[in-house]
Order: sequence, then C-alpha cells, then structure tokens
Amino acid sequence: MQVPFLNPGAQTLALRAELIQALTEVLDRGHFILGPQVAALEQEIAAFVGAGLGVGVNSGSDALTLALRALDVGPGDEVITTPFTYIAPAESVIQVGARLVFADIDPRTFTLDVADVARRITPRTKAILPVHLFGQAANLDALLPLARERGIRIVEDCAQAIGATWRGRGLGSIGDIGCFSFYPTKNLGADGDGGMCVTSDEGLSKKLRMLRVHGIEKRYFHDLHGYNSRLDEMQAAIVRVKLPHLKRWTERRGEIAARYSAGLAGLPVELPVTSEGNAHCWHVYALLSDRRDALQGHLAANGVPTLIYYPQPLHLQKCYADVGWKVGDYPVAESVSSRILPLPMYPELSDAQVDHVIGVIRGFHG
Ligand SMILES: Cc1ncc(COP(=O)(O)O)c(C=O)c1O
Repeated sequence: MQVPFLNPGAQTLALRAELIQALTEVLDRGHFILGPQVAALEQEIAAFVGAGLGVGVNSGSDALTLALRALDVGPGDEVITTPFTYIAPAESVIQVGARLVFADIDPRTFTLDVADVARRITPRTKAILPVHLFGQAANLDALLPLARERGIRIVEDCAQAIGATWRGRGLGSIGDIGCFSFYPTKNLGADGDGGMCVTSDEGLSKKLRMLRVHGIEKRYFHDLHGYNSRLDEMQAAIVRVKLPHLKRWTERRGEIAARYSAGLAGLPVELPVTSEGNAHCWHVYALLSDRRDALQGHLAANGVPTLIYYPQPLHLQKCYADVGWKVGDYPVAESVSSRILPLPMYPELSDAQVDHVIGVIRGFHG
C-alpha cells in the first residue's frame, strides 16, 4: 500500500464543482485583487477565530512581518521566538530590523519554553512571537502574564493552528495580532499563497490595511512605508469554499491522531502530547525516535515516504552564521530536530492507510 505524505489535491478534487463555480464568479466579476471575496473571507475568518477584524495579506510570512510593523517593532527592539519552526517568524523579525532572540523549546510540546523566554527578556524586548506549532498552543498560561506584566506585545503565529483553541478561545484571538497562512498544505489551504492577520484592535487593523497596500489610506498618498501584500480574489474564493468543511476536517484529523496513538502505544517511541486546556487541530502528528533515520528509511521502503520538520533548528542555519550561534546553544531544539518524525496527516487518509503506517512502524520494532 502507498500512503502519500501529503495530498492537497484530494480536497480540490472533492470540491471541484464548488471551486469552479466560485472561480467562475470571480472571473465574471472582473475584480481580481482585494475585492468582495477578500472582504467576506476577512469577516468569516475573524468570526471563526473569535477575533474582531481580519486583514487578508498575500502569505502567512507577510502576515507576521506586517504584524510586527503594525506594532512598531523595529531597529533597537528585540523579539523572542522559537528556533524549532519554519523560518518565517524569524525572518519577519529580521525584515523589520529588530534583533532576533531565540528561546529554547519544551521537549514534549516543541513550543516555546516559557522559563527560557523569561531568562531572555531585556528592557528592549518589544514582542514575543510564539508559534502554535503542529496545531496546539504554545504555553499561553505562562506566556500571557509574563508579557502583559512587562507591556510586551504578543504576535501569535497560527499558520499551523487554525481551528485550534486554548481554554475555549480560538488561537489568534488571544495576543495582539494572530497570523494565519493559507499555503496549500495548511489545514485551511488556498491553491496558491495567501494569509491573514486578525486582531480585535481597530487601530491595528487599520494600520495593517495600510501596510499591505504601500502604506496608503487614500490612493496615491503614502502615509507609511508599506508593502505589496494584497490577497487576491481567486485565493480568497477558494478558501471560502473550504472554510465550511474545516470543522469536519479537524475532527477527522483528531480521529487519525487518536488511531495513531492507540496503534503505536507501547513502542519505544515518544508519542505527541496535547497539553491541558488545548484543543489540538493536528496539523502535524510527529513522534520522537532515537532511531529516527532508520525508521524513516523503513517507512519509505514500505510505501510511506515522510518529510522531516524540522531537520535543522534555525539558530544553526547558514543565513544566521554571522550571529555566531553554535551547536549546544538550544539543546532541546537540537535534540528534537534529530529525533522528530512526522507521519502522514490529512483528513482524506483512510483508516486502512493509517493502519498500514502503524503496522510498518510496529514491524520495524519487531
Ligand atoms: C509556523 C509557520 N509560520 C509561518 C509560515 C509561513 O506561511 P506562508 O508559507 O503562507 O508564508 C509557515 C508555513 O509555511 C509556518 O509553518
């Protein structure tokens, strides 16, 4: 049996008629950028997440950069984030000219270790950028009071966490600004690039709207140094077709995660944990194994190719060589990078495919 690692095309196929209808309407209307589809999606995502206002932008990466800019983070400021994630949050800090500060991660949830965050706070710390990695919240119980007591802003990276909640509240609605990605393999994906900021602060949303279109409020009058980060109507229309299915898809992801965890119990691997107060949206189901590379090879040989996220923590990436970070600086992130193994995870996986993956992993351990 073959089990593709990801399969974003499956959703497009299942919703083909609705998608073609929605795209045809956009073509017929002839309004292609920042039109009625984007406006409707902004309202729908904000309502779904439980934040007041949405601002569509052209990627999750831009959502983070614009969020930091909207909060006036810039040269002279420091931003604390995680070294164990996709590079976008770290890049956004560099792009606004602030100093990038990493804190190590918790060994069980792989999200920011708040005790380490606390140690790295200085008078220059302007924002903390927690990533709700793999679909569950960073430790907001500890992070929120730490930040609020010091007037530090919080930008939530929810690229992997749409539909997840913390103590009943939608991720993205808790910090100052929540940032989402509609990259095709995300839980709610467009068929191209797209992203969104959400906030309950009207002033911030107004600033985000200006930043995404060259700093303008009135056309050809540029009040801020801005960007071209507009969301297009086709992508917004596609995401709107998919949004009504997200709850069901998230439930199916939860079923698959539970099936993996039951089937893999008792093996010498560490299974993912959901920390208290969280409803996980299972963007990624990853286990930790001391024999990761051999297990990955065994899976591939048995029809289950996998991709490692993330094989090298950010502090050891070549692009940051000038900072001088070295092996040993973030030991938990380094250890997790060497042991992590994500398994196939998307709602269209059949029980038989999940059972095949479980069987192959059990076979590896004899
Ligand atoms: C945690 C995280 N943050 C940000 C991004 C950036 O999103 P995008 O690819 O839409 O720019 C991604 C994914 O791609 C991500 O996984």
